Amino acid sequence: MTTLAILGCGRIGQVHAGSLLGLPGTRIGAVSDAVPAAAEALSARTGAPVRTADQVMSDPEIAAVIVATPTDTHFDLIHAAAEAGKAVFCEKPVDMSANRIRTCIDAVEKSGIAFMTGFNRRFDTSFAHLRGQLRAGAIGAVEIVTISSRDPAPPPLDYIAASGGIFRDMMIHDFDMARFLLEEEPVQVFATGAALVDPAIGQAGDVDTAAAILTTASGRICQISNSRRAAYGYDQRVEVHGADGMLRVGNIRDHSVEAATGSGFTRAPAQHFFLERYRDAYLAEMAHFVDALREGCPPQPTIHDGLRAQLLADAAALSLESGTPVRL
Ligand SMILES: NC(=O)c1ccc[n+]([C@@H]2O[C@H](COP(=O)([O-])OP(=O)(O)OC[C@H]3O[C@@H](n4cnc5c(N)ncnc54)[C@H](O)[C@@H]3O)[C@@H](O)[C@H]2O)c1
Repeated sequence: MTTLAILGCGRIGQVHAGSLLGLPGTRIGAVSDAVPAAAEALSARTGAPVRTADQVMSDPEIAAVIVATPTDTHFDLIHAAAEAGKAVFCEKPVDMSANRIRTCIDAVEKSGIAFMTGFNRRFDTSFAHLRGQLRAGAIGAVEIVTISSRDPAPPPLDYIAASGGIFRDMMIHDFDMARFLLEEEPVQVFATGAALVDPAIGQAGDVDTAAAILTTASGRICQISNSRRAAYGYDQRVEVHGADGMLRVGNIRDHSVEAATGSGFTRAPAQHFFLERYRDAYLAEMAHFVDALREGCPPQPTIHDGLRAQLLADAAALSLESGTPVRL
């Protein structure tokens, strides 16, 4: 039996708790949140006791912690877990600063704990299958990756203000997907963006519409398009063009009914948001984490993948500010 604790009982902490409840040989040994009502609500759902983070860290029965607290709290919790010898599953981004992530890497490597970064999209059935096809040579050498990633609606302004900006908060998933599919590190980033959805997002110092072009040393290209608004649901598409063809993953819809009338063909909108679209991916990433702990293998993606995506996000933010491409 593997015993884990949930730190942070908000949106994503509840998703991970739900996944763990469905995984055999796994037990939630504690739930913890800065807001007692949030911890109590998840405790009532899971049957796990409410504990402070300190109590979790000193409980010898708890083998691993799920860090699902706001990003600015990850650093301290990672250090506490490393000191206590607990394995860590940490939500993205690991931190908002690459230098602080490097400090976390030192602590993790010194302690020897297992660490996984929560880039859930790698565990989506279609994206994982696409990568498998690429590796099997289905379309030959990869030349251009195109990622479209658009949220149905912007988050509240207070979230935007604390998010670290669209590149670190939202496009970070796409930077990881770019690396996952290119299998070659980008060496240059050119990014642009504007507040086209809500001028208040611009006044908060961020953009809500952004694009980035990544280039690898061998000249492979990845183009990423983000928006905080999509009228038709959560837009999550990937296309990879290679020497011998093209692979494409489209949106998953609320249902598969297609209506045909004299005015044309209509289909359901894309699934509304990440909780629906990536439900199975969240379960698969948690299953991978627990399996890796049991088998003593390092879980993937690693904390280094967290750092690499962050460096791309930092470069994109700098490129937007300077109006020029940024070399890594
Ligand atoms: N992988 C994904 O698809 C995905 C999706 C959403 C959020 N996230 C990431 O997950 C993290 C949490 O995001 P969320 O949307 O669940 O936020 P949230 O605000 O819904 O939940 C965070 C919870 O943590 C609690 N908290 C705050 N400080 C704490 C502390 N020091 N100790 C314990 N609990 C504390 C809050 O009270 C809240 O209940 C962020 O890093 C975010 O970027 C990832």
